[in-house]
Amino acid sequence: MFDTLVNRILRLAEDQPDKLAVAFKKEQLTFRGLADKMISIGNHLAAVNGVKQGDRVLFTALSKPEMAAAYLGIQYCGGVAVFVDKNSTFESAVKIYDDAGAILFLTDKPMKDNTGNMNVFSLRQLYEADFPKRYLEYSMPEPEEMAELLFTTGTTGTPKGVILTYKAVYHILSNTIEGIGISADEILLLPLPLNHSFALRVLRAVLYRGASVVLQNGFAFAKEIENNRIAYHCTALAAVPASMEILRGQMQDKFEEIMRGFRYIEIGAGSLTMEQRKRLTKQLPDTVLYNTWGSSETGGALFLNVSEAADHPVRIGAVGKPLSCVEVKVLDESGREMSSDARHPGRMALKGDMQMAGYWNREELTKETLRDGWLLTSDMVYTDDEGYVYMLGRADDIINVGGEKVSPIEVENIAGQYEAVRECACIGVLDPKEVLGQVPVLFVVVKDAAFTEAGIAKFLSNHMERYKLPQHYILLPELPRNHMGKIDRKELHKIWDAQGENDLMNPVMQALLTRRSIRKFKEEPVPKDILSMILSAGFHAPTGHNMQTWRFTVLQNKEKIMHLKNVIQKVAGEQKVHVYGFNEPPCLILISNDVRNPNGCQDASCAAENIFLAAHSYGLGSTWLNPLFYLGDETEIRELLDSYGIPRNHKVWCMAALGYPSMEGTLLAKKKDVVFYVD
Ligand SMILES: Cc1cc2nc3c(=O)[nH]c(=O)nc-3n(C[C@H](O)[C@H](O)[C@H](O)COP(=O)(O)O)c2cc1C
Repeated sequence: MFDTLVNRILRLAEDQPDKLAVAFKKEQLTFRGLADKMISIGNHLAAVNGVKQGDRVLFTALSKPEMAAAYLGIQYCGGVAVFVDKNSTFESAVKIYDDAGAILFLTDKPMKDNTGNMNVFSLRQLYEADFPKRYLEYSMPEPEEMAELLFTTGTTGTPKGVILTYKAVYHILSNTIEGIGISADEILLLPLPLNHSFALRVLRAVLYRGASVVLQNGFAFAKEIENNRIAYHCTALAAVPASMEILRGQMQDKFEEIMRGFRYIEIGAGSLTMEQRKRLTKQLPDTVLYNTWGSSETGGALFLNVSEAADHPVRIGAVGKPLSCVEVKVLDESGREMSSDARHPGRMALKGDMQMAGYWNREELTKETLRDGWLLTSDMVYTDDEGYVYMLGRADDIINVGGEKVSPIEVENIAGQYEAVRECACIGVLDPKEVLGQVPVLFVVVKDAAFTEAGIAKFLSNHMERYKLPQHYILLPELPRNHMGKIDRKELHKIWDAQGENDLMNPVMQALLTRRSIRKFKEEPVPKDILSMILSAGFHAPTGHNMQTWRFTVLQNKEKIMHLKNVIQKVAGEQKVHVYGFNEPPCLILISNDVRNPNGCQDASCAAENIFLAAHSYGLGSTWLNPLFYLGDETEIRELLDSYGIPRNHKVWCMAALGYPSMEGTLLAKKKDVVFYVD
């Protein structure tokens, strides 16, 4: 059987014209609307832009309905769709344009003064044109004709174009429908970049199924996920492993409640760690979780129903199982098929109608990758009797410790179960002692200051062979990731190579880079001696002109803290001031300063940060609470401050809430483009 998405949309426009096809915020296209846009764009491209069969047309893959319409419109008139990342620079768009030998670039990205050799046309204008001419009827292409060129933004530097024929596209979308069991009444929320093969195949599959897609511009704001889910009654979500962590961090207690609304979640473009799989299936018992392995070259090929596998001690670690129409074999170093197991992995090769036809303009690479109809990957795997595939990592990432092969994924999976580890990544580096060839190094993002090197080393030595044990641990505030949230191992190597200069093991830097605001606490009080050290960290901070006019007022009495909170909330309500993050800390330090000191705020802020860092180093959580900055002069509150002995000429700049954390700090990506050097 063979069909195209364009042909299917034409039929769906007749069968279910009013059903929602694509939505973005309040903009919505029904299947009739989508088909009309597709026909209009196809006709415009052919009549006005001169697009003929086989012409490559670049377009910016925005997360908006015009992306879907342009993608289909290009194929409607026989063109080849070439996707460009919405964040791509002018230079990389030119590279793809030239490499693809494109004739047109549909975009609204501001261009430099001139567009070079590129023939640029506004995507939005094309979308809104409603081109009246209808001289082009859709004609079905041959299955082997080129439908799409997918330029991988992979790790290898220069992007390479993956050629997908209509046949491959059809099988990629059918595999996804079958692998997941997408139903026609699905409403899928898709917050991923649409030039990526995972997002694209989800989009194709859902539309082909006649179901609806709600687009969203990334995962940065969990609130948007919640709003979209509710507004559109979304039943499904497509995500990547890193985005699940962002959501968990931002949603905190509400994570389960919000995510349980989804009937299924498909996670692609990376494997969840074992810990994440266990935790997610426990937290979302009624949501079916899928983790798929795929690539631009194959689409989704191995599917794992994580919810089903969760109780199976071994299968929970699998990357997935091939669908019936996908063949998998494991090859030894000389390229011969081998029988594999955990100690004898080999390279994975795949075969099926979904695979690419080759790399555009890269004959040599195509020959190396496609052999006798099999597509060779660089993933080291082994399989079990039931056909489940287990991944050890990419061939280049496997660590050779004195001849023993260590899978970074295995180390990460085990280390990820250590309670103080939020996430981690393992790479092999040259053995500094020059004995073993390579040794594993583990980069760790810690959950809290309970992390110690001795602690994790002991934990790991109970769970893995000696030669697999990391020889060094490096704490990072976050793991470097690519735009799909995949761990960037090359960047980790760079960090390792530069660590002599950066001294990543410096404990002050570690405390600084791993502190996060904590807003929920256990009832346990802050021990007296630790509190005293924290306070002394506060008054050791710098002060303008060494004034030291500040005052640190400590509240530890639960009733007093609750009373202050209640009064603040009451007054804040009256004054329409937003109060957030004030829960029930066992300790509050009110940092005030003499209002006559012009540096009062700066001095208090320095002290506050010292307090936060000192608290963090003792395993305590902390946060800055701001309401007294706004409301400290309100009568009812001022009377309370009087009762604490805070002089009338003092302003409270910061309340530092302290306690043992009962939540994880939110994993925040700190902006890095805020540093400017002046030569
Ligand atoms: C001046 C200032 C005022 C803040 N006010 C509050 C507040 O009232 N409530 C709160 O929960 N967090 C407050 N914070 C904490 C910030 O929300 C937090 O630092 C920010 O989201 C970054 O997160 P991180 O501290 O985990 O890096 C404040 C921080 C600063 C510096």
